[in-house]
Amino acid sequence: MNQVYITPNEWSVIEEGFNAERVMSSESLFSLGNGAMGQRANFEENYSGETFQGSYIGGVYYPDKTRVGWWKNGYPEYFAKVLNAPNWIGIRVLVNNCELDLNTCQKISNFKRELNMKEGWHKRSFQAILENGIEVKVEALRFLSLSHDEAGAINYQVTPIHQSAEITFIPYLDAGIKNQDSNWDDQFWEITNVENTTNQAFIESHTLKTLYHVGTFMESKLFLNNEIQAIQPQVEKSKSHVAFHYSVAVEAGQTASIQKFAGYVTSLNHDASQLIDASKNVLNEVTSIGFEGLLQEQIEAWANIWEMSDIVIEGDVKAQQGIRFNIFQLNQTYSGKDERLNIGPKGFTGEKYGGSTYWDTEAYCLPFYMATKNQEVAKNLLIYRYNHLDKAIENAEKLGFKNGAALYPMVTMNGEESHNEWEITFEEIHRNGAIAFAIFNYHRFTGDYSYIPEMGMEVLIGIARFWQQRVNYSEDKKKYVMLGVTGPNEYENNVNNNWYTNYIAKWCMEYMLENLAILAKDFASDYKRILKKTKLKDEEIEAMKEISANMYFPYSEKYDVYLQQDGFLDKDIATVDQLNQEERPINQFWSWDRILRSPYIKQADTLQGFYFFEDQFSKEELEKHFDFYEPLTVHESSLSPCVHSVQAAKLGRMEQAYEFYLRTSRLDLDDYNREVDEGCHITSMAGTWMSIVEGFGGMRVKDNALHFEPQIPENWKSYTFKVNFRNTVLSIQITQDGFEISADKEVKESIKVFGKEISPVITTQKVNS
Ligand code: BGC
Repeated sequence: MNQVYITPNEWSVIEEGFNAERVMSSESLFSLGNGAMGQRANFEENYSGETFQGSYIGGVYYPDKTRVGWWKNGYPEYFAKVLNAPNWIGIRVLVNNCELDLNTCQKISNFKRELNMKEGWHKRSFQAILENGIEVKVEALRFLSLSHDEAGAINYQVTPIHQSAEITFIPYLDAGIKNQDSNWDDQFWEITNVENTTNQAFIESHTLKTLYHVGTFMESKLFLNNEIQAIQPQVEKSKSHVAFHYSVAVEAGQTASIQKFAGYVTSLNHDASQLIDASKNVLNEVTSIGFEGLLQEQIEAWANIWEMSDIVIEGDVKAQQGIRFNIFQLNQTYSGKDERLNIGPKGFTGEKYGGSTYWDTEAYCLPFYMATKNQEVAKNLLIYRYNHLDKAIENAEKLGFKNGAALYPMVTMNGEESHNEWEITFEEIHRNGAIAFAIFNYHRFTGDYSYIPEMGMEVLIGIARFWQQRVNYSEDKKKYVMLGVTGPNEYENNVNNNWYTNYIAKWCMEYMLENLAILAKDFASDYKRILKKTKLKDEEIEAMKEISANMYFPYSEKYDVYLQQDGFLDKDIATVDQLNQEERPINQFWSWDRILRSPYIKQADTLQGFYFFEDQFSKEELEKHFDFYEPLTVHESSLSPCVHSVQAAKLGRMEQAYEFYLRTSRLDLDDYNREVDEGCHITSMAGTWMSIVEGFGGMRVKDNALHFEPQIPENWKSYTFKVNFRNTVLSIQITQDGFEISADKEVKESIKVFGKEISPVITTQKVNS
């Protein structure tokens, strides 16, 4: 059962009342992250009920040995796992020696959690009667610092309500951690050192095989009624654990609190042999700023993020909370500061999906980062793939391709494929197209061509070569066909001529050739260098021209639509509304073979192509395809509703667009897919942003101009968003009776609203609808 319990609020995610059944869902929803690390919203104190403990460090992973029923040649040896890292948030709490544990308390009242998205912190407060009958009031505030991204801070306060009591805080570090999703129950970490000073503690550990060295550290301070207590704590140490014991006698109504500063330093950014020193430096820095000072910095850092990326919706609190939750989580997951990192489908909120990088980044996330950050951030996402090109070539070689053909992995951490389901690893090859599309999209939006001659051209050549080798000529059809693939709709496997895959393959070859001609003409030295390096031959170029001009696309005369794949019409085309609603989501109720034989579509597939290549089809064609495919779509991928929302808005179906928007923006908050306990759907959150900006706002870049075709849902008073278009920040407000745009400086680019040129925007311009 999905549980809807989040209190609507414009700036915060709020849960009121304690319910043990919601603990794991809330651990996902209230997660914290700062781009460098993140953690599920686990309780600081002990909790013996059902919980999913999770702390993660960006870029630190483990190659878990593959587990499959039947080994197939070409499978990767391992599945890269986002690694559950040492826990630094833990603080055991004893009241007169009785453990505070919400699972065993006699009574819990006034339980409230708040994730304050405006300021970037998480607070939990409650009253509890412990097993020994003592009632305490607790308030715990925690954040992961954006300004010092190796550290976080916790302020944990306990007030005995009716009687005096001895309060013991036991802040600890625990490195004896396992991944919930480990394949063989193997040990992923080796712990090499546990040490402490009077009030600082450290654990050094490294991942096995990948040898990432991590220093986990903490320092705590005890307070009574806000006065620091000079207590020398007792130390408790084991091979994987270190804790300090602080006890203090507290009168009824008085408050004892502990401040804990903690975090990680890693060999990604420090010399592996200097991690204790590096930890001490971080601790000294953050403790000298102090809890309040750090919190203040946090508030300012988030204010800066919101200044650019906020979307303000007037008149619809649930929609407002939804979009802010999405924007908040995206910023928690990826800051764009480090080109080695990427955006995992679960971010730092869970382990499912393993590795960090899917086609999701290029297909769904890039537009958000392009428009709400500076250009470098989006470029870093492209550079990430350039840095993985050699591995993509090796990956294709493993599958029998040659001459520098590149197949980017479905899932990766370091460029190597780490997914091992044959129908996805070997067949869901459309992902390769998204990498090329992102290069096109980046250039289209930013106007910056430099990436293509510097790096992108090599990527495009590798990808185009893959497609050239992957197709074959069908004598029967007198066309080039692509056999045995899985399209974006994973509810069909091993199909022939998936329309989307064939289309993007053709486009990739054409786009590569188009850019090759530009380089030959305008970037002669890059052209020479690239031809020499890639050894691209004339025969290959000719073959690509021939294939792209003669690619086969399945088509139905009867319905006048392109078919998702050759055999699609052999299915019993019964629409989703005829399904037994009790059996949804079908992936939780039906056998896999029943799903595969059904006409039900997991996510946009043919429509994904219409989304990417909108300009290549008429509105009538879009409408026809939308009306054919959407009624068959179960939207069981989080990536589905956003594309449909953008398209419904384009077709002027605002009610439907709004429904899809709400579903995508509140997918996790309202747990539509009944799985939020496993973590949040981070990559689809960028799709929510697209639903508003591209869907309702109608923003597109066409012919080097920025276009808007604004519409507004009936129940909204207004909505406002900003985009950084070619280094000018445009602020756009859409109300029920008009559109206003302003810019932070004179706009040199062409801007059009409903096709009418409104630039140069110097001051605010108003266009009435
Ligand atoms: C979707 C894929 C996506 C993956 C990670 C799957 O459920 O079908 O398209 O890449 O999730 O988000």
